[in-house]
Amino acid sequence: GRADVLARIDELVRLVPDYPQPGVLFRDITPLLADGPAFAGVVEAMAAAAPEGVDLVAGMEARGFLLAAPVSVALGAGLLPVRKAGKLPGPTAVEHYELEYGHASVEIHPFTVPEGARVLVIDDVLATGGTAAATVALLERCGAEVVGLSFLVELEGLDGRARLGGLPVDVLVRVP
Ligand code: PRP
Repeated sequence: GRADVLARIDELVRLVPDYPQPGVLFRDITPLLADGPAFAGVVEAMAAAAPEGVDLVAGMEARGFLLAAPVSVALGAGLLPVRKAGKLPGPTAVEHYELEYGHASVEIHPFTVPEGARVLVIDDVLATGGTAAATVALLERCGAEVVGLSFLVELEGLDGRARLGGLPVDVLVRVP
């Protein structure tokens, strides 16, 4: 069940200080991915918490792909890869957003999003919420209805959730 999964996430998400930059505490999910039962449990828990009637599961490059793909299969929904820059052949829809230092963008192929599609957005970590907020804006601009977001870990101190316009957000683990 969900409680067993949650109990194992702490031990399977490795904390790496000062990566990729000094002062950043990186959360490495590779041990979790490498543990078959734990990975399956995470996917099941995310699928179980999903809203009704999801048409597409959107996952953000790169670690969001790894969670969104199995959840989309579990839900019988389609998969929408949200890429971070210049990788899709196009035509693309693009949303630019600001990072602490510099900027980034997310892109999709809008022709894969039917008008009114109910989309669940999945990523590994909700930090500042910049990536998730840009993804929501992009999907809505392309005619989708974002029905919820799901994250493995929420870094509560950064209050990324405040940037998600009150949409339903499920997280498996919250850390300060
Ligand atoms: C991480 C994470 C999210 C984003 C969260 O991705 O996987 O996509 O940052 O941060 P935010 O809430 O402040 O926007 P990263 O930039 O490390 O890219 P990667 O998954 O392609 O390595």
